[in-house]
Amino acid sequence: PVIYVVTPTYARPHQRAELTRLSQTLLLVPDVHWILVEDSAERTTLVADLLAQSKLQYTHLHVQTPLAMKMKDSDPNWLKPRGVEQRNKALHWLHENRSSRDHGVVYFADDDNTYSIKIFEEMRYTQKVSVWPVGLVGGLRYEGPLVTGGKVVGFHTAWKTHRPFPMDMAGFAVSLSLLLSHPNTQFDPNAERGFLESSLLGSLVTVGELEPKANNCTKIWVWHTRTEKPKLKQEDLLEKQRKGSDPKIVV
Ligand code: UGA
Ligand code: MN
Repeated sequence: PVIYVVTPTYARPHQRAELTRLSQTLLLVPDVHWILVEDSAERTTLVADLLAQSKLQYTHLHVQTPLAMKMKDSDPNWLKPRGVEQRNKALHWLHENRSSRDHGVVYFADDDNTYSIKIFEEMRYTQKVSVWPVGLVGGLRYEGPLVTGGKVVGFHTAWKTHRPFPMDMAGFAVSLSLLLSHPNTQFDPNAERGFLESSLLGSLVTVGELEPKANNCTKIWVWHTRTEKPKLKQEDLLEKQRKGSDPKIVV
């Protein structure tokens, strides 16, 4: 089966660094198809060039998050759901371009997390929805499913424990055929904070049907890392002295 890795991404000073790291992780994974979806009005050259040079199999999409849903720089990062329209756009692409004859699995991989290549082999053979723990998330060292007798019987979580599927986006993968057989299943842009993952999974599976991976959910092979916002305040200073950084140099 092909692993369809769906990544929402948006322009910011460290975007190229994030995408370089992720693309080079994916190079180590056989049979991946990267669906990169820009949160922008158009495909940007920065991303197009990066993909063209990546040696990966990829699809480059874009959709701008509606202004009412878009975060302002001053908003705390959790105020609005992020990457929702972009992931839904990728789902739409899969419905249009893949059929039940195509064997695959879909993984929603944000551009800032850290992925071991091991997690991709864990998810490759997914019947419906496979799950595993994610490191450094939910205010804990890790959050993840609790497994007894090979079945998910609950979740290790401390935050909004009443969530139907209290898991981070990086902690599950969905079989392509399951998604294709549910054409109306999408992420809910209006989902309450923390309920985005549940808004998709709720219409696809029950907790009892989840397939535990990563040695019965005891191995951490993906981390919810977040990149510190780069400080660029010296740019203004040099600019005033007409010695600003060369705009032709792409960072
Ligand atoms: C957590 C989860 O790990 C995300 O999967 C989930 O989408 C998010 O919460 C949420 O509740 O919406 P967090 O690290 O806080 O993630 O979110 P980001 O990594 O900042 O954003 C998730 C993805 O959306 C990233 O791939 C990012 O590049 C993209 N994004 C973010 C956009 O496409 N547009 C934006 O304006 C912001
Ligand atoms: Mn993130």
